[in-house]
Amino acid sequence: MPNRKAPSSLLLLAGILVTGCSGVQSTLAPSGQDADRIASLFWWMTGGAAVVWVFVIALAVYYARHSSGTRNQRRDRWLILGGGVAFPTVTLTILLIYGLAMIPETVARAPEGSLQIAVSGEQWWWRVRYFRPGGQEVVLANEVRLPVGEPVQFRLDSDNVIHSFWIPSLAGKMDMIPGRVTYLTVRPTATGIFRGACAEYCGTSHALMAFYVEVMEKAAFDAWLDHQARPAVVQAQDAAPDAARGGELFASNGCGACHTVRGTAARGEIGPDLTHVGGRLSLGAGILEMRPDKLRDWLARTAHIKPGVHMPEFNMLPDADLQALAAYLHGLK
Ligand code: CUA
Repeated sequence: MPNRKAPSSLLLLAGILVTGCSGVQSTLAPSGQDADRIASLFWWMTGGAAVVWVFVIALAVYYARHSSGTRNQRRDRWLILGGGVAFPTVTLTILLIYGLAMIPETVARAPEGSLQIAVSGEQWWWRVRYFRPGGQEVVLANEVRLPVGEPVQFRLDSDNVIHSFWIPSLAGKMDMIPGRVTYLTVRPTATGIFRGACAEYCGTSHALMAFYVEVMEKAAFDAWLDHQARPAVVQAQDAAPDAARGGELFASNGCGACHTVRGTAARGEIGPDLTHVGGRLSLGAGILEMRPDKLRDWLARTAHIKPGVHMPEFNMLPDADLQALAAYLHGLK
């Protein structure tokens, strides 16, 4: 009976590897100039390494199969010096020069006048600030939207531990270091939704610190940013009674001590700005869908969903209150 297990597990492994080549968070499916360069570098490095490996293994097999009596010493020396020393040295040096030559363009700042976005690493979420040409600052959290085809200058920092800002499909990664400001230029080349993640272990919920990035046409992006700059649209009592009651609960439970909802009395700056939270692509920094039931869960089981989070759980509230709060937050579009 032939062993059918080996081919099927190989197929499974190949399948897993191939799925890693596409999707919203893949360096091998680039949609940005820098990610494109990094992907080419990866393929050239992989190709170069494969050629060296095949050559060296072929030499080893050849010599393992031929006894010393049948060997030509002069040819042996050439094969070892040529194939074992010169060939890998030349191949790896070419790859090194190719890689180093990419650095200046990859670290170059975006031209003067480009869109500026500051992102701060928090535990475990992202504070995002857009600087508009007029100087007005727009604060949001856990979401980045970018206009396609334009360079964008990210200014990165952290006031707690080291995080790393990474949108694999768009660009390389950059550390966010307490006491320092680092910069990353992103040049998206295609519209779409991509996923970013923290790429530096930063504590208990490091793996739950993600965000979505939407690359949009310029006009759609401008409209989106205009909307983000406006105060919250709080739903009227007669249109959405549950949401209106949720707004009262938001105020009476002290949520405004940590969160800002522009246009209301909530002015806290410890936690994420919630002015347009209901219109975001995800909840809890890229880990939950933005839906009323997920918002309710998040309010009741915050530390279960994201261990170590600073926000207290509100599971002492009756379910009807949690649902009203969720309706209010979901209505903040
Ligand atoms: Cu932030 Cu890992």
